[in-house]
Amino acid sequence: MPRRRWFGGNWKLQKGVAASIALAQELRAALALYPTEHVDVVVIPSTVALYPVVQALRGSGIQVGAQDVFWESAGAWTGQTSPAHVAEVGCRFVLVGHSEKRGRGETPADVQRKVHAVRNQGLQPVICVGETQEEHAAGLVWEVIRMQVHTACEGLSAEQVAACLWAYEPVWAIGTGQAASPAWAERVHAFLRQELLFWGRSVAESARIVYGGSVSQQQVQSLMAQPNIDGALVGGASLTAPSFVDILNEAIQ
Ligand code: PGA
Repeated sequence: MPRRRWFGGNWKLQKGVAASIALAQELRAALALYPTEHVDVVVIPSTVALYPVVQALRGSGIQVGAQDVFWESAGAWTGQTSPAHVAEVGCRFVLVGHSEKRGRGETPADVQRKVHAVRNQGLQPVICVGETQEEHAAGLVWEVIRMQVHTACEGLSAEQVAACLWAYEPVWAIGTGQAASPAWAERVHAFLRQELLFWGRSVAESARIVYGGSVSQQQVQSLMAQPNIDGALVGGASLTAPSFVDILNEAIQ
């Protein structure tokens, strides 16, 4: 069965609440005829903008994800974001293990706890993996991806792993304007899919693995032409409606 494409716009900390609502409304208008019944289109605003963006997109077919959550749902945890609260406001997806979190002290064990917490709320984790420039140069990509995949999913059943999405985001490609070549990305995606065989053939074959890192309208089509690339996680180019819509349109050509 063909895998349903998934495209996410990661707004990071670039938009306040009013700007997030405005962008959501623009996307809603621009994507009114987009086949969201066949393709997942997801916006990922900052935490304080989640609720109003969900409201602004209600009934549009555009879904909403969170950028991060804590692994506990309730308790004396000042300053954290509860996965239960994110589910309550109507999010469907949560990024877990983005390199901008891993690079600021988030450990593989933290990623694992978050994946479990997100799953326990019935949300879909989008588990971000990828090697740094140094790891890339040292030829460590395969070890890094293998470790990140297996630690993130330790203790999950095959059925739970099947409910996860994956984003291959080479750290050297994020925000640099230097996307990975389609051939390189395909090699890593194919490797990641092979690693998922650990949980069975159907988990590996049905897993959606999206590419992230300087995705733009120019290369999205050649990335999507690769057999193991199932969509994209877009940062910079998702910050205006026209550039994100251009990517979405190119991707389904
Ligand atoms: P970028 O960000 O498209 O700006 O490189 C991607 C990401 O960090 O998810």
